[in-house]
Amino acid sequence: RLIYLNGNYVTENDAKVSVFDRGLLFSDAVYEVISVIGGCLIDMERHEQRLMRSLGELSINADEGWSAICLGLVSRNALDEGLVYLQISRGAVPERDYRWPSADIKSTVFAFTQERALIDNPMAERGMRIVTRPDMRWGRCDIKTTQLLYASLMKMEARDAGADDAWMTRDAMVTEGTSQNAHIITKDGVLISHQLDHRVLPGVTRIELFERAGAQGLSIQERAFSVAEAYDAAEAFVSSSTLLIMPVVSIDGHMIGDGKPGGITEQLRRSYISEVQ
Ligand code: PDD
Repeated sequence: RLIYLNGNYVTENDAKVSVFDRGLLFSDAVYEVISVIGGCLIDMERHEQRLMRSLGELSINADEGWSAICLGLVSRNALDEGLVYLQISRGAVPERDYRWPSADIKSTVFAFTQERALIDNPMAERGMRIVTRPDMRWGRCDIKTTQLLYASLMKMEARDAGADDAWMTRDAMVTEGTSQNAHIITKDGVLISHQLDHRVLPGVTRIELFERAGAQGLSIQERAFSVAEAYDAAEAFVSSSTLLIMPVVSIDGHMIGDGKPGGITEQLRRSYISEVQ
């Protein structure tokens, strides 16, 4: 497996970065996870747009041919299905210092691939079990930074609680999953999803989801929903580049619907898959 690092495709052993890289010392880095299906990058343009926005919000100076980098890696690694992880950090600095030097630092860019079955995921048949946890992340969740420790901790807590993942809440309102956007469908057939603000990541899959949902005649409300509304929902699901559209069958032990993946959710997943295949 080759790794892309600062302009070259190198072996894993040769992919080395400085211990003074601000990505390591301060999580001063942003990233994208792009799904690959049938050797094609899914929604690369939207990932690039979000990446440029994340970089801009942090004043990291980098603008490269992101899609060419990812495509080069997919073809060199002959990846059919899985993902590309692309990370850009502010770069290495001479001394550890919270403030970065005003002179331009050379950003560190790397990418790797991971093989994974995205379409034939057994979880799509059984559905996900979710637990809710307080959202104690920083206030700029709209920037896709590598500050993922809280999400990791919550995924571990979810696993220890016998669940598949966690949805995070602020003031009893659901913001999003640890690494997915969270959605419910009410008993009146309305799709509810947190509005785009600093509390959630603007998911690439979420955009495509809304298009599919619109085409299916669902009405969409972009607003925060409460944990109580989620317990009471007809269906619940998540969206992300790696899970695509994935049904949720229980939240904090409350069965959603009849405890099986919801019919509308399954239709949305099928429709999304046929679009990207
Ligand atoms: N996570 N919300 C959070 C906090 C995320 O980390 C992600 C993606 C999403 C969904 O975004 P998208 O549809 O663009 O993948 C929402 C990726 C997959 C990850 O960290 O592995």
